[in-house]
Amino acid sequence: MNAPSRLRLAVLISGAGSNMVAIQRACATGQIAAEICVVISDQSAAPGLQRASEHGIETKVIDATVFRSDSGFDRAGFEDALEEAIDDCHAELVVLAGFMRVLSAGFVARYAGRLLNIHPSLLPRYKGLDTHARVLASDDRAHGATVHYVTPELDAGPGVLQAEVPILPSDDVASLSARVHEVEHIIYPQVIGWIAAGRLRWNGGAPTLDGVRLDKPAQQQ
Ligand code: GRF
Repeated sequence: MNAPSRLRLAVLISGAGSNMVAIQRACATGQIAAEICVVISDQSAAPGLQRASEHGIETKVIDATVFRSDSGFDRAGFEDALEEAIDDCHAELVVLAGFMRVLSAGFVARYAGRLLNIHPSLLPRYKGLDTHARVLASDDRAHGATVHYVTPELDAGPGVLQAEVPILPSDDVASLSARVHEVEHIIYPQVIGWIAAGRLRWNGGAPTLDGVRLDKPAQQQ
């Protein structure tokens, strides 16, 4: 009997890679029917590369600095190299996990419906960078993370799953970020598992979960 097929993932990182490790764990324990075929980083010094290797995962570096010259950043060249690395391993889903680069509309279109991101805020609040510091400077009492499909507009693609965490009076960026990371490590594997099980579908940009249109992200309980 053939083993059931597992969804092939390319995971893109720029930093620590803790979400990548959480996804790898969920794959390894059979919690989700997926496997990471490659971890790709734009930073040769990303600590997540070492962590991926320790888990026996193939890693590739598409070093962004190589594509920088006096005439600026050769984004087309960088993205061509990225596409090659993704397609080489026949990835079915591209998982941005702390990948600190804005991707072109052409790149996003090529992987439409197969490109996910996790953002450390309750989108649509706090798009962009420094979300923890910005929420701490506000009157908000809650913060969190959102898994969403990627579309050309930054942090604006259809949301799939959100998890909320409280903001405590004693919080600083480090403590709040740690609390958000804890829920990220739950919701990212969960969403990938839904896709692997055929429960979550892109549906031409109007995603459905179990056949029901997701007008807003589901809330993790
Ligand atoms: C996470 O907070 C994620 O939401 C954001 O980048 C961070 C990546 O953390 N996109 P890690 O590298 O997975 O530890």
